[in-house]
Amino acid sequence: MVTICFQSPSKPIHNIQPKSKLSSQPPYKSQSLVIVTEPEPVFTSVKTFAPATVANLGPGFDFLGCAVDGLGDHVTLHVDPTVRNGEISISEITGTTTKLSFDPHRNCAGIAAMATMKMLGIKSVGVSLALHKGLPLGSGLGSSAASAAAAAVAVNELFGGKLGNDELVLAGLKSEAKVSGFHADNIAPAIMGGFVLIRSYEPLDLKPLRFPLEKDLFFVLVSPDFEAPTKKMRAALAKEIPMAHHVWNSSQAAVLVAAVLEVEPKRAPLIPGMEAVKRAALEAGAFGCTISGVGPTAVAVIDTAEKGFEIGEKMVEAFLKVGNLKSIASVKKLDKIGARLIKSM
Ligand code: HSE
Repeated sequence: MVTICFQSPSKPIHNIQPKSKLSSQPPYKSQSLVIVTEPEPVFTSVKTFAPATVANLGPGFDFLGCAVDGLGDHVTLHVDPTVRNGEISISEITGTTTKLSFDPHRNCAGIAAMATMKMLGIKSVGVSLALHKGLPLGSGLGSSAASAAAAAVAVNELFGGKLGNDELVLAGLKSEAKVSGFHADNIAPAIMGGFVLIRSYEPLDLKPLRFPLEKDLFFVLVSPDFEAPTKKMRAALAKEIPMAHHVWNSSQAAVLVAAVLEVEPKRAPLIPGMEAVKRAALEAGAFGCTISGVGPTAVAVIDTAEKGFEIGEKMVEAFLKVGNLKSIASVKKLDKIGARLIKSM
């Protein structure tokens, strides 16, 4: 079947709508129209995984994030003749949280999957989607982005993998904009793996920071029993950055610094014990420690797993002693792959 699509799927989309329009408009309005053939499904079903992510990494507010191995969400997608053509039905939600909407317009995985189907121009096939959550909500580990990334990659793989990373990130951003706020520092690393720098949003310009393959990097993640909704944590931030911070930033020849000066001092007090947890991690030998995304998970970085477990213990103690919060520590590696296909039939 021949359909009209907004651009050749093999090329990345380098254009995006202004933020205010993003959730209601396709992000590629100004791309030239080309006619392509609607892709057929190449499998009857696929299963994908997308990892947890640490956004901001301290100074990188909204422009830097990385993926964490071994934690994340799964999506299974089936071609389903009982679902209307061009549409998605969410058939099952399992895992750490099931209090999510089955309406695909209100579910991170559903929104990203629909955006990906739209980009591919799918009009003749309906699909059903099962979501398995490995990540808790509101933990600061990119839970919504993991669902969106796994769903976008699943749709793309089901129809032959025609879209590139930039397009998949745009599909995921649709979901992030609607659910938690317009920021790509979770969704980009969830799809691409490793460290990703968002050089620009308009147009979207993503720069993977290549971490040496032969080196390992470990993250000590300490998640207290406390929920920090992204929308609320974003609302706590100042809308303007003082000129003095901007000048200082520029003098460092990087955009990294002013954001952390703005973000952390405003957010850390919202998470009981966070300052003490940071101190404990640094005293125990961590290279650095900060809030993961909006929190409440605290993340410390180190180069060996053994040291990671020692640091984790100290951080858990500090959360309890100063913040009166129980927490769980885990030590995970940098995920260098990102969202991937793990099974197809
Ligand atoms: N950059 C985003 C924020 C990350 O800090 O609001 C949310 O996970």
